[in-house]
Amino acid sequence: MTHWNGRHFPADFIWGAATSAYQIEGATEADGRGPSIWDTFCATPGKVRNGDSGAIACDSYHRYGADIARMQELGLDAYRFSIAWPRVLPEGRGRVNEAGLDFYDRLVDDLLAAGIRPFVSLYHWDLPQALEDSGGWPSRATPEAFGEYVEVVARRLGDRVPNWLTQNEPYCVSWLGYALGLHAPGRTELPAAIAAAHHVLLSHGLAVQALRRESPESEVGIVLDSWPVYPASDDPRDAEAAQEQDGFRNRLFFDPVLRGSYPEDVLELLGDSPPPVRDGDLAAISAPIDFVGLNNYSRTIIEADSEGKPQNVTNGGPTTEMGWEIYPKGIYDVLTRLHREYGVQNLYVTENGGAFPDVLLHDGRVEDRDRIDYLHKYLGAVGRAIADGIPVRGYFVWSLLDNFEWAYGYSRRFGLLYVDYSTLERVPKSSFYWYRDLIGAGRLPEPEPA
Ligand code: FCB
Repeated sequence: MTHWNGRHFPADFIWGAATSAYQIEGATEADGRGPSIWDTFCATPGKVRNGDSGAIACDSYHRYGADIARMQELGLDAYRFSIAWPRVLPEGRGRVNEAGLDFYDRLVDDLLAAGIRPFVSLYHWDLPQALEDSGGWPSRATPEAFGEYVEVVARRLGDRVPNWLTQNEPYCVSWLGYALGLHAPGRTELPAAIAAAHHVLLSHGLAVQALRRESPESEVGIVLDSWPVYPASDDPRDAEAAQEQDGFRNRLFFDPVLRGSYPEDVLELLGDSPPPVRDGDLAAISAPIDFVGLNNYSRTIIEADSEGKPQNVTNGGPTTEMGWEIYPKGIYDVLTRLHREYGVQNLYVTENGGAFPDVLLHDGRVEDRDRIDYLHKYLGAVGRAIADGIPVRGYFVWSLLDNFEWAYGYSRRFGLLYVDYSTLERVPKSSFYWYRDLIGAGRLPEPEPA
């Protein structure tokens, strides 16, 4: 039963904020951490804006206590963070680095003591470099190593972590990392990207098995990112191109996890280089899970080019500083789709938020009205989905604090907390107080911005 009257969220709705290890921790050489593909990528000239890296980031490895105090000030129910695989297994497999595990042990305990529920992501893109050196995600050895790593982590933390997230955004891992080369490891090989996509999904399946064994009381899910795809016009050619784009962007990941099969139309387009599926893979990938986490920021509009291939177009609508269109109905549409078409019974928005050009004023304020408007509109759309019977259980804003935004380095800010990178001081933005008041009231303030 929901009680949405246009503004009120259910009483048990989980209010959260999200981060990831490489983006906030820094301390990349502390306590025996091994190198990850993002250390290497950042050290490669021309890959990351400004030559930035996560070497220091927000130094949350050392400042997590103060960050937890901020979470309490916000009134967060839950905090989503990720575990850095190279802290736990510096070479990717084999030798366990206890000091790395100790860090996450303390973090989990301190969160629980503060009354904040840990939602723990097991992979948020920082693959141990040693595993990339032996083939990376296109190699089947990597999902096997992931299963071992998850077992090690779950043995240590599985008695206390209530919610596990196996993989974050398989599309970005495989496509941005191995086809487009925009993210680490920066490869541009289409068949490798398809193999990577399959192996990331397989790694999810192997992680589910390890978590069911080692953390039987917990809830297990995966984080899928989805930008809904809309045709630019009523022209059937645009509709067909949009369908193709949706196949590669969304269904290639939704279908194996939620239906146990790859979409036929995508397989046809892949022709001679299909995903390297072995017996039993799809059963493992589609093993029942307890929830799906959705990351959504924007949408895609598609037009057919002269050969009928999908072409991204823009419509001049408002965007964030990422250039991503602000389109709140998109999050409503994906949540609805995951429930109605794919039968998902428990959904969390595991990431949503906006980058805007924040300014720290002389008096110490950061008046991020544009972020507040963005969050207000998107949360309005989430609320409408709940009112329409879509089982959305919680929402995590991206991000708790400004951080290392991958190839954009520190040039994009998503946080509720402004980070002054020269001092690493955290300054609450106006959106921090807005979110705190929203959590306290359990309902959106009126009116929704135009
Ligand atoms: C998502 C990532 C997250 C962050 C946001 C802006 O794709 O999961 O780490 O960078 O985008």
